[in-house]
Amino acid sequence: MCGIIGITGRDDAVDGIVAGLQRLEYRGYDSAGLVAAGANQLRVVKRAGKLDNLIGALKGSGLSARAGIGHTRWATHGEPNDRNSHPHTDPTGRVAVVHNGILENYQQLRRQLPDQRFASDTDTEVAAHLVARELDRMDDPDLFEAVRRVVAGLEGAYSLCFTATDEPDTIVVAKNEAPLIVAHADGVGYCASDVAALIAHTRDVAALIDGQLAKITPEGVEVTDVDGNASEPHAYTVQWDVEAAEKQGYEHFMLKEIHEQPTAVRETLRDRITDDGGQQGGGRLHLDELAIDERDLARIDKVFILACGTSLHAGMVGKLAIEHWAGIPVDVEVASEFRYRDPIVDAHTLVIAISQSGETSDTIAAASHARDQRAPVIGLCNVVGSTLAREADGVLYTHAGPEVGVAATKTFVTQIIGCLLLGLYLAQVRGRLYPSECQDILERLQQIPGAIDEILAQDGDIAELAKRYAETDYTMFIGRHAGLPIAYEGALKLKEISYLHAEAFPAGEMKHGPIALIEEGSLVVALAPEGHVFSKMVSNIQEVRARGADVIAIGSAGTTSDLKDHADHVLTLPEAPHELATPVLATIPLQLFAYHVATIRGEDVDKPRNLAKTVTVE
Ligand code: M6R
Repeated sequence: MCGIIGITGRDDAVDGIVAGLQRLEYRGYDSAGLVAAGANQLRVVKRAGKLDNLIGALKGSGLSARAGIGHTRWATHGEPNDRNSHPHTDPTGRVAVVHNGILENYQQLRRQLPDQRFASDTDTEVAAHLVARELDRMDDPDLFEAVRRVVAGLEGAYSLCFTATDEPDTIVVAKNEAPLIVAHADGVGYCASDVAALIAHTRDVAALIDGQLAKITPEGVEVTDVDGNASEPHAYTVQWDVEAAEKQGYEHFMLKEIHEQPTAVRETLRDRITDDGGQQGGGRLHLDELAIDERDLARIDKVFILACGTSLHAGMVGKLAIEHWAGIPVDVEVASEFRYRDPIVDAHTLVIAISQSGETSDTIAAASHARDQRAPVIGLCNVVGSTLAREADGVLYTHAGPEVGVAATKTFVTQIIGCLLLGLYLAQVRGRLYPSECQDILERLQQIPGAIDEILAQDGDIAELAKRYAETDYTMFIGRHAGLPIAYEGALKLKEISYLHAEAFPAGEMKHGPIALIEEGSLVVALAPEGHVFSKMVSNIQEVRARGADVIAIGSAGTTSDLKDHADHVLTLPEAPHELATPVLATIPLQLFAYHVATIRGEDVDKPRNLAKTVTVE
């Protein structure tokens, strides 16, 4: 997630900005930059890659200023390179901007400036151009007023931070659906994406509310609404130390990331419908980064989904979605196996390679093995510009933001959303669903973030269950259909962070062997949400219960009363907007369960032993 820092009123503002950027590094980034503000010139320095590259470029430059803004970028539009790094300026260098979020209408806005050349591929740059245009139009240029006018026409999520040669001591910020904190202490004004960047200077901060703007000068901070009326931000005193501030008060990154899931899903679903000009009575689902000709996709007769670990489990949901909606046969395969056999792949085989990092060597190698046989490859990735994203023919990005915890959580749920989108898209391309049907399903999927919030509210009950079972040596997870991938994922989460033995089976397979493991006191977690296999799951629960197992059942609103007679504990999911969306909901209680078990056992949840966040070796 991009990080912003702005400082005005200190002789060493540039050093302060670099220190602030270092405090924001934990958010994840692929480039960094800053602008030193001056009346004659805005001096911009920016570099792709680690902050050290920026620090190296600043060394010996003698760059100093009393005010400036800085940025760490997590790419969403445009490759992570020097050119797309922030800050961005208008062509005359009068205005500079940094941005966290996505300006959804940037293309329309660019069209308002047909004569202007853009120096980057980003959605952000247009904001600097527009503010400069407003300043040009004013007899008495006023940066705050210029930003206010521009912000009124922006759509999307943003925290934006501007500086201009007209008023080099002034920083103007605007916030909508992306965090922004402002502060003033000892004659210095500050703004930042989060308190981690400010805590060395002050603990008294104010969080802007959506729709607010602020003018920050060495004299103080003035906050208004978008009409320019005075408005109160949410002021508070930070109680955390720096480490806790990076986690925004959560004890671990994993817990923070679990709680970020409603936002991550919202971002991944955002802006997927385009107007079809009334041709088919509605909008069309578009996945514009895919860049594979729809006619080629219409000719596909088979799909391979290739991935590792948690991404593989998302792929299992992808299989269900593509077969159900698009009617194409799908194989899901562990990437490290695929590359060493002789898979039957040709130009009519679509390969979907899923990897949050886009750097997993097994997945990259498997995808390139398929490409060698002329199969088109779609990468489903979270990291923009990653190797897989670059090498694939098309890419669909999840917009989960960076994930620090080794245990994948928010990237998993957004991968499932990505798989659902691909299933719907292939169905649309092949004429199996009308655009209006796709649109209807997509609209229903918008209920998911709210449903996740409801599950997160059950954290206390889940923590109690974790307390009770934290010493259980062996846990079996069972599920069918859309519940099965989540059984696998629940077992993986538990074993990777608590080091307890856990495994998953298709519930129907129990009687073919695994049920022999069940004895008095065994723990079975059964995925039994509402759906066409619910009654089968109830029978499987009865089978293990009859042999002495304790059963935790994951049910849903419509099934809880049936489950209560058969399971020892029932966790209830809200009604899912579609049966194939159930996995997104069902995984949340299992993430929390694994998290609590691991913390009760005192394990290092964010950095489990023997594991790496990104596995770049075979
Ligand atoms: O970056 P990728 O999605 O390709 O990573 C794949 C696996 O290494 C990853 O999902 C791993 O299983 C996680 N630790 C699971 O929490």
